[in-house]
Amino acid sequence: MNQRTFPDSFVWGAATAAYQIEGAATEGGRGRSIWDDFSHTPGRTLGGDTGDVADDHYHRWQDDVALMSELGLGAYRLSISWPRVQPGGRGPLNPEGVAFYTRLLDALRAAGIEPVVTLYHWDLPSELEAAGGWTNRETAYAFAEYARAMARALGERVGLWITVNEPWCSAFLGYASGEHAPGRTEPAAALAAAHHLNLAHGLAAAAIRDELGDEAQVSVSLNLHVTRPADPESAADLEAAHEVDLVGNHIFLGPMLDGSYPIGLRDLTRDITDAGYVRPGDMTLIRQRLDVLGVNYYFTNYVRRSDGPAAGGSGGHGNGPASPWVGLDRVEFLPPSGPTTAMGWNIEPDGIYELLTALDNAYDGLPLMVTENGAAFDDVPGPDGEVHDPERVDYLRRHIDAVGRARQDGANVHGYFVWSLLDNFEWSYGYSKRFGIVRVDYDTQRRTLKDSARWYAQLARTGTLPD
Ligand code: FCB
Repeated sequence: MNQRTFPDSFVWGAATAAYQIEGAATEGGRGRSIWDDFSHTPGRTLGGDTGDVADDHYHRWQDDVALMSELGLGAYRLSISWPRVQPGGRGPLNPEGVAFYTRLLDALRAAGIEPVVTLYHWDLPSELEAAGGWTNRETAYAFAEYARAMARALGERVGLWITVNEPWCSAFLGYASGEHAPGRTEPAAALAAAHHLNLAHGLAAAAIRDELGDEAQVSVSLNLHVTRPADPESAADLEAAHEVDLVGNHIFLGPMLDGSYPIGLRDLTRDITDAGYVRPGDMTLIRQRLDVLGVNYYFTNYVRRSDGPAAGGSGGHGNGPASPWVGLDRVEFLPPSGPTTAMGWNIEPDGIYELLTALDNAYDGLPLMVTENGAAFDDVPGPDGEVHDPERVDYLRRHIDAVGRARQDGANVHGYFVWSLLDNFEWSYGYSKRFGIVRVDYDTQRRTLKDSARWYAQLARTGTLPD
């Protein structure tokens, strides 16, 4: 089997997240989340865009499942809106919210599409933020109770549970750079949040297995940063890249997979926090069996050692009032020098190859799944509304080819989820960035398959990269 042909068991899916597509923000008994509050605060999102309506998926989910069927997807990664199923983040469930997901999961299964469910894709109930959000240890326990309740309510309908999505973004874009909700710019708070997200992952994994039995499949999706030294010969630049690896990757991989924070992290953050939020026994709570590690990959970073607080870019995340890179005052992120997507993210398919093979080397044989990969481009619909998006097709082809190469070189990669099924609310960028393989006309809510959708459907059908 060559690298362009994938086995029948390889999972081809697409991913979305609740706040980015559902809309119906005040319907069906849904409570408020930090993203409702943030997007409704003037100046926080481009053009003041909110997720109030988004793709109206809450009302159009049947059409969207039909669309996935038409594309022949084997799996769909969705997220549950915590405030929709448990307004306020604690206490009794909202039956209407639970019924929405029950119907959706049943419809997916009936269509032969395996549901992969993310429990936290950034929409923390506002009440929990009022009590400190992820800086408060109690939030991790509330999350575990919510996870348990979902396991009980949805149980066998879910093929794979993903506890948290990209905790790096929640902690550092949410509490350090302020680019994401709740929009705080407090470095010490971000580090506490990172720890509590680790804890939330571990407690939730244990709660799900406690409810559903040891065979319940549990994962987490991490946006791991592939970081290169500007000058590969420079020891100082190599050290700078290593520091990004600590604060960007091993701050989560360490506790979740190794049962400890990485050596060196403490030195970088000593002046910011005394890490008093780490309690004895936490590492045991966090390190739970991972059936598969979810990897989200979009771009690489280039860094160099600098003398003072970061000038220049911030590693693809330049939309917030402060830097997300807590403890890295002497690391400078270089602006991309090659081709970029509409996000300004550089296009480097080798990055995903390196990431998957490095993970395989570090965690020998650990099952891996690409839970997000994709690209925003400024699609221009043709006269009949059709969308030719050769740049996206090219991006996907080259990245999936790199996944195939990683597999051929031994990485145990089980599946690939394109981000995203639909154009949607791209967080602080609002509706200005389109990641979908399906176009959404936000005036009419009409869905149109882009060329990339047809291309991806062929791949899902044949398991072989089309030319
Ligand atoms: C990831 C997020 C996802 C989407 C993509 C473009 O960081 O998980 O919701 O915004 O980036």
